[in-house]
Amino acid sequence: MSGKIISIISNKGGVGKTLFAIEVANFLGVLGNDVLLIDTDINTGDLSVKLDLRVKRTLLDFFEKNESDLTNLVITKYNFDLIPGAGGNFKFANLNYFQKMKFIKAFKKISEEYDYTILDLGAGIERTTLDFGLSADYPIIITTPEDIQSGYGCAKAAAVRLQELEERLKNRDSEYQVREKFEPHFVFNKSSSQLAQSIYNGIQRATEITRNRDGIMIYPHYLGAIPEEYRLLSKAYLRQHTPISELYSTSKIGQAFRHIAQALANLDNKIAVQQKRSPLEKIIKLFRYEQEKQSIVETA
Ligand SMILES: Nc1ncnc2c1ncn2[C@@H]1O[C@H](COP(=O)(O)OP(=O)(O)O)[C@@H](O)[C@H]1O
Ligand SMILES: [Mg+2]
Repeated sequence: MSGKIISIISNKGGVGKTLFAIEVANFLGVLGNDVLLIDTDINTGDLSVKLDLRVKRTLLDFFEKNESDLTNLVITKYNFDLIPGAGGNFKFANLNYFQKMKFIKAFKKISEEYDYTILDLGAGIERTTLDFGLSADYPIIITTPEDIQSGYGCAKAAAVRLQELEERLKNRDSEYQVREKFEPHFVFNKSSSQLAQSIYNGIQRATEITRNRDGIMIYPHYLGAIPEEYRLLSKAYLRQHTPISELYSTSKIGQAFRHIAQALANLDNKIAVQQKRSPLEKIIKLFRYEQEKQSIVETA
């Protein structure tokens, strides 16, 4: 298994993360991959609402009860597997060290069973959210033309966090190979391809300035555009709680998601040759490091 991790991040809610996660998971499955989608947006449980899942067990069982094996929470829907989140006061962003380590261990183990594990991360740029976003092989930033400022802000925050992490790891181990570049894949939702391309060109110019002026290393990639489509989305999700990729896969919006899934699968063929080291390993190192630092502070 290639065991690639995809994270979906954004600064704002309502930009289409969960929709994107479901459709891309399903299309990657249709293309013949084993896919796991994890709803870490556990305070809304939005994914379960969209698909009308009435599940008894969710990721909350893992964090708040005794379920230590994520495999026991997996259900299968359409062409992918899914670990549901749940509504409640629990916030992924506020996980303590032990919860983070527990999740990362279990997550690493389960992601080895799949070709792709997709993390629907919930809105926000808190540290934990960014750290999990950065643990992915392919961090995806989803934004709409109106929300482009916050989309770019998200890329900047993630790149700054990456720099911070890498510096710390380097300080501890001089042999350490620093990962300097943050390479997010941008998806423009509610946008024509033409508009998306011109926004992307603007982002490229902005990242160049940011690199030269502030040393923040963002190297953006273009992943795709998704058109605005209210009628089919409401027919699929509000009436039937079923993905577009099941009901209207040949529609314009369906094809847009299919192209993106295909583009992601193509990336993997290229990356396989380069033998990239998993960013997840680095995040594990970092969490250990931060915990040590924390215990030094506590004992001082
Ligand atoms: N391309 C689109 N065209 C029309 N409505 C959309 C589109 N993308 C998302 N939406 C709608 O916007 C709302 C928010 O989407 P959602 O995926 O839940 O966002 P997030 O997970 O980022 O909060 C949903 O009602 C969804 O159906
Ligand atoms: Mg969501």
